[in-house]
Amino acid sequence: MGFRPWGRVAVELVQTDYGWGLAFADEKRGKPYFVDFSGIAWRQRLQKGLGKNHIFTRALGVREPGVKLLDATAGFGQDAAMALCLGCEVTALERSKEVAAVLRDGVARAMNEDGVGSLFKNLKVIEDDARTYLLKLPLTERPDVIYIDPMFSKPKKSAKSPKNMQLLQELLGEPSPLDLEQLFDAARATALNRVVVKQPLKGHALKSTPSFSFKGQSIRYDVYLSAR
Ligand SMILES: C[S@@+](CC[C@H](N)C(=O)[O-])C[C@H]1O[C@@H](n2cnc3c(N)ncnc32)[C@H](O)[C@@H]1O
Repeated sequence: MGFRPWGRVAVELVQTDYGWGLAFADEKRGKPYFVDFSGIAWRQRLQKGLGKNHIFTRALGVREPGVKLLDATAGFGQDAAMALCLGCEVTALERSKEVAAVLRDGVARAMNEDGVGSLFKNLKVIEDDARTYLLKLPLTERPDVIYIDPMFSKPKKSAKSPKNMQLLQELLGEPSPLDLEQLFDAARATALNRVVVKQPLKGHALKSTPSFSFKGQSIRYDVYLSAR
C-alpha cells in the first residue's frame, strides 16, 4: 500500500483478474495501471528494435548485443524494455515494493507473449535500493552501463504528466537532492563504461557536467563516461 506522510493513502497496490496494478484510491481518477507490453505499439517496438541512430541507442553507446546494463530506477520498466530490444542484458532495480510488485507481474506476463517473450529472459528485476546494491556489487559483476531516470518534478503549468507517472509521483513523491546525489555517486563509482541520466530537456544536470548529451523533443540524456 502507498502511504502519504500525513496518513492518507492516495495510491494503492491492487490485485485484479488481470494481475497486480497501481490505482488511485479515488476511483474517479481512473482504472488501475498495469505494466503491459502486449499492446501493438510495444510489440512493434520490441520486434523492430530502435535503430542505431535513435538517441536512446546512442546515449547508451550500444553497438552490439550483450551489453550489461543496470537500470537503477526501473519504475514500470519501459526504459529497461527499450534496452532489451537493443540486445542488452538488463538488471532492473526498484526500491518501492509496490512498484516492484507491479513490474515483476508485468514482466511475468510479457515472458509468455508470443514473439517478444524470449527478450524478457534477459531482464532480471530486483527489489532493492540501487545506492546500497551498487556499493555491494563484486568487481566481476559491474555493469557496462548504469541508467538513471529520476522522477521529474510535476509540471507547473497546465500540462499533466502521463497517468503512470502521476501514480508514481503521488505514491513516492520527489526524491531528495541528497538521495539523487548518492545514487549518482554510487553509479559513477561502479559503471565500467558510462552512466546515462534521463532529464527534462531544460533540466539541470544531476551533479557534474556530463561528457556529452543527446537531446530529444522533451527529454535529454546526459552521458558520463567512466575514466579508463
Ligand atoms: C521516473 S521512475 C522510472 C521510470 C522508468 N524509467 C520507466 O521506464 O518506467 C523512477 C523510479 O525509480 C525508483 N527509484 C528511485 N531511486 C531509486 C533507488 N535509489 N534505487 C532503486 N529504485 C529507485 C522509484 O521508486 C521510481 O519507481
